[in-house]
Amino acid sequence: EKDGYKHFMLKEIHEQPRAVRDTLRGKFFAGKVVLSDLRLQPNEISDIKRIILVACGTSWHAAMVGKYYLEKYTRIPTEVDIASEYRYRQKIIDSGTLVIPVSQSGETADTLAALKEAKTMGAKVLCICNVMDSSIPRESHGVLYTNAGPEIGVASTKAFTTQLAALYLMTLYLAQERNQLTPEQVADKIVDLEAIPAAMESVLQDGERYARFAERYHNYTDFLFLGRSYNLPIALEGALKLKEISYIHAEGYASGEMKHGPIALIDENMPVVVIATPSEVHEKVLSNMEEVMARKGRVIAISTNSTAVEAVADTFIVPEVPEEFSPMVNVIPTQFIAYYISDFKGCDVDQPRNLAKSVTVE
Ligand code: F6R
Repeated sequence: EKDGYKHFMLKEIHEQPRAVRDTLRGKFFAGKVVLSDLRLQPNEISDIKRIILVACGTSWHAAMVGKYYLEKYTRIPTEVDIASEYRYRQKIIDSGTLVIPVSQSGETADTLAALKEAKTMGAKVLCICNVMDSSIPRESHGVLYTNAGPEIGVASTKAFTTQLAALYLMTLYLAQERNQLTPEQVADKIVDLEAIPAAMESVLQDGERYARFAERYHNYTDFLFLGRSYNLPIALEGALKLKEISYIHAEGYASGEMKHGPIALIDENMPVVVIATPSEVHEKVLSNMEEVMARKGRVIAISTNSTAVEAVADTFIVPEVPEEFSPMVNVIPTQFIAYYISDFKGCDVDQPRNLAKSVTVE
């Protein structure tokens, strides 16, 4: 059932365009976003004053992108918290608070506990989840399923990209119902979003390049991943993937934070993966990259063209998409880097040591 792929993780990486299409399927009617399983009444939508996203691990990284989406289009103050932190802190919740747990499995103990606490205190709870009728959707007032299909590899891949699509859908829906986007604007964004799976497909054709990259890079002991704005969570996610399946130490950082400490780590033994696709902060990312190279750091750029970033050690080209959708495309090179390094080292890609697919105990 690996469909000829060597590992479930590789199969699931390749399934992402299909999975995202399945997340979007049936959600648009006559140019409008329709999310009936959220079961939200018009007055409940207009009453939302604050949003809190809670999740763990990779789902937390997706939630971080969700904050950017929600604040940009709904203008509702939004925060993101790690579920294990949120559940024990002194929460501020009232009837205008919407809590959005994000979980692939729907069984993560900390996310479930955070949800229950928030619900008891009077929050409205709408979850984003992949597994039908699991505990988290059962405890929530409404649900948006990602429909990625079963994810077997312990390292999450297609769950992540479908969570991003779901968070965007939820954002469009709230903005549409609150009259913050016109029907034309919503329709345009739907068209842009529906083009993303094809962009993802083009990145998936480059697997062999990443395999050769892994041969050259598997012996490094530390990696840095840098990104800004929508792609800061992708830097964190890239570092997490590399750590968990190849056992190489990696850190994800906001590239603007480099000069506040981590730049001291840079030398020729530190590969630095920089997410450098076009964005409102593109010039800033390029100058952060120059700073790394000036200290002999070995830069690996994820970019839409090879000439903008000369003098880097390696460049992985991705297609250009609107900035807000770039995380869905840019995460694929980071998944491939982790996958091929792990495989080259002979690690157990699908069952990394010490990890369980769903963390149902605290
Ligand atoms: C990393 C990974 C974990 C999960 C986390 C939350 O690849 O898979 O970090 O993302 O344990 O799991 P869910 O989404 O099932 O709540």
